[in-house]
Amino acid sequence: MSENVNRQVVLRSRPSGIPEAENFEIVQKPIPRIKAGMILVRNIYLSVEPAMRGWVGAAANYAEPVPIGGVMRSFATGRVEQSAHPDFRPGDIVTGMFGWQDYTLVDAESIQRKVDPSLPISTSLGVLGLNGLTAYFALLDVGQPRTDNTVAVSSAAGAVGSCVGQIAKIKGCRTVGITSSEEKVNLCLNEFGFDAAISYRRDDFSAVLGDYFKQGVDIYFDNTAGAISDAVLSHIAVGARIVVCGTASVASWDPPPLGPRVERNILVKRARMQGFLIFDYAHRYSEAWPVLSDWVRSGLLRYREEITQGIETAPSAIASLYRSENMGKRLIRIAAED
Ligand SMILES: NC(=O)c1ccc[n+]([C@@H]2O[C@H](COP(=O)([O-])OP(=O)(O)OC[C@H]3O[C@@H](n4cnc5c(N)ncnc54)[C@H](OP(=O)(O)O)[C@@H]3O)[C@@H](O)[C@H]2O)c1
Repeated sequence: MSENVNRQVVLRSRPSGIPEAENFEIVQKPIPRIKAGMILVRNIYLSVEPAMRGWVGAAANYAEPVPIGGVMRSFATGRVEQSAHPDFRPGDIVTGMFGWQDYTLVDAESIQRKVDPSLPISTSLGVLGLNGLTAYFALLDVGQPRTDNTVAVSSAAGAVGSCVGQIAKIKGCRTVGITSSEEKVNLCLNEFGFDAAISYRRDDFSAVLGDYFKQGVDIYFDNTAGAISDAVLSHIAVGARIVVCGTASVASWDPPPLGPRVERNILVKRARMQGFLIFDYAHRYSEAWPVLSDWVRSGLLRYREEITQGIETAPSAIASLYRSENMGKRLIRIAAED
């Protein structure tokens, strides 16, 4: 690659469901020139999120859709290459919504934080980034775990789910992970410390699920919606909290898929079902970072990262999440760390 080029992954067309490689195109642009008050960041790690499906769709979402021809919206972590701002110096590691591209020219407000390089800087996008923050606030604020609660987590081997399971254990809960394969079941049990785990692809999944929830589910951390959630919801305990965090198993919401009516069960169990959006918690991120960092340092919070090499791997990366191919946090490295 020429050092004088900024490669960008831009949106070429809107997907009708899951974004595939053909919905994106890699273009080459000049590297932006530094301007007064601005910071030029050389991106090193790009994040891949299931939420990107919503960001490129035409349907109304919590964020404006990425325009056709626009750089794909993404969190990224990189090194300050040039700075015309007094708070940032070349060499600082920073993270923010920098997009899928080599270089990003940003103002100081667009930098989420300076990254502490005493932990691997890739963690700023996963366990200490959007995923860890989501697990922390959604479980603690919405789920409100109490000692001995049973917590069920879907996408349990993934970036958010693996943190949810471990934070629930830290809070004294019993955890049950739900995921797609026996390999991921083992990851949940052996790496992330779930008390039990089960693959939703087992033929007898719905039939045996009750064996895992003899006292009922006090908290269901829902990352998938769909048939997995229908099965879990039939086991909720009185006073259950259902944290609606993601809908990964639903390929399209147009038209909305039909499912069982949950209202009667919610009423009888006096349960609470609440949606969660991490961006509502931006003013509280600095509360969570030191706690999560301490847990990572002490080994209480473990993480798995799966890093593909090169910006060429970006266009197919979202679809790969929706094929359940990732083990832990999916990242793309596009430059050396130093
Ligand atoms: N609300 C918020 O503010 C917020 C913030 C961050 C993330 N999220 C949501 O949290 C969830 C997890 O995000 P993440 O970044 O940690 O991703 P992740 O769990 O690391 O990866 C996505 C996972 O989704 C599961 N999945 C994909 N297609 C599926 C299908 N058809 N049926 C069932 N499961 C399927 C797969 O896990 P299996 O192998 O288990 O199938 C896959 O590994 C996502 O739904 C995401 O949108 C929400």
